[in-house]
Amino acid sequence: MKRRDFLKTGAVLALAPMTTGTRAAVRPANEFSLMARPGQANLVGQGNPTTEVWQYGGTVPGPVLRVPQGKPVRIRFDNQLPQPSTMHWHGIRLANAMDGVPKLIQKEVQSGKQFLYEFTPPDAGTYWYHPHSRTWEQMARGLYGVIIVNEDKPPLVDRDLVWAVDDWLLNEQAGIEERSLGAMHDWAHGGRQGNWITINGEPEPEVIVHGGERLRLRLVNVANARIMDLRFKGVEAHTIALDGQPVAPEVLPEGRVTLAPGQRADLMIDITGKPGQRFAVEYVTRRGGVKIAHLVVSNKTVRKHLLTSSIELPPNPADVALDLKRMKTFELKMEGGAMGGLREAFYKDRVMPIRELVQHKQVWALNGQAGMTRKPLFRVRRGQVTAIRIINDNSWPHAMHLHGHHFKVLQEGSNPLAGPWHDTFLIGAGETRTIVFRADNPGRWLLHCHMVEHTAAGMVTWVHVR
Ligand code: C2O
Ligand code: CU
Repeated sequence: MKRRDFLKTGAVLALAPMTTGTRAAVRPANEFSLMARPGQANLVGQGNPTTEVWQYGGTVPGPVLRVPQGKPVRIRFDNQLPQPSTMHWHGIRLANAMDGVPKLIQKEVQSGKQFLYEFTPPDAGTYWYHPHSRTWEQMARGLYGVIIVNEDKPPLVDRDLVWAVDDWLLNEQAGIEERSLGAMHDWAHGGRQGNWITINGEPEPEVIVHGGERLRLRLVNVANARIMDLRFKGVEAHTIALDGQPVAPEVLPEGRVTLAPGQRADLMIDITGKPGQRFAVEYVTRRGGVKIAHLVVSNKTVRKHLLTSSIELPPNPADVALDLKRMKTFELKMEGGAMGGLREAFYKDRVMPIRELVQHKQVWALNGQAGMTRKPLFRVRRGQVTAIRIINDNSWPHAMHLHGHHFKVLQEGSNPLAGPWHDTFLIGAGETRTIVFRADNPGRWLLHCHMVEHTAAGMVTWVHVR
């Protein structure tokens, strides 16, 4: 904390016990245990039926794990689910053996068994964890949580809030809609689309905020397949990070931010409203906005004059220079799905006509191949500047995610590298985009659509960094 800021906040700390309370909670730890098991959650509001979910650590979402940057972390995973599972640490550039991908990296952790995940997160930021076994079922039942890698010197804020935004498909008794789990129709269309949006497992929460308060709000789209187009009404929010990586602070255009499944955005918000004022956060649809949360200004004022300290994050080691003159380019053609006209594809080393593919629940293909292959999409040497030209030749948008690395999506114009770093990006139907990264993390890394029904239905491959 800079002295100037301390003078400003010091006087009000006594009035705002929440401020001091959250500072303590922000302290990171190195060791955690996470048990995954069936349990109950109230997703539809007090007085209404609870939902049978699967959860980490007894809650939905699982506990927020706060870990220090650049120090080893140990997480003991205890699988008490009725099926095998693994854990994946989405967006963290960790050692390959800890990436949690079954078959490619590790054996599935059987029901009743444990696995110790140990890794050192090199980059600060907002990441999340989820299973990588039957993800389309396990995530739909509530298995996900947020992992935050603390900056050594974060910008000053009063509170650091996490919002895991989910999209549930519930029946009228508030149960998980189970008949449609694994439904081919969803797999060939836009994935499992829900009917109930929650933030941290709560429907339309009211978050009490205080006058003059500075909030860091970490948004995570944990939905199976829904693209979250969010609008913050009446508040000026700055984006300071995307997919965990710092960006030059910028005001949200029209208060809007779009998050594909798997993506994150860190926002900074200074609360300027009057006591009692409410600011809605909406999920924007073609027909209008659905309110999913409210910021409600209390009659407490944390400070009269807003903080003027910088909201910019320190750079991460992920922010490397990319020499485009030395890059190797590969192609990835995405085909299939409803209205896609896919006729045939390789599946398990043999060409199959679409009718037969569907019997294997495969409807998407990457470079003519449905699902995982024994050979990688490509091999590159460690350090190689690598580009993948992605051709989305079908009728659907997709949220492409590369494990173990961050990449840039090449921009039009004079500075192709001007865009932010991502680990997941949205590619529209019919679009072609090129992503570039330095393949500096050795191992076998998955590349797949994070609409997890699409992954299961064939939209997955892997690359090998030697
Ligand atoms: Cu968040 Cu392979 O996934
Ligand atoms: Cu997809």
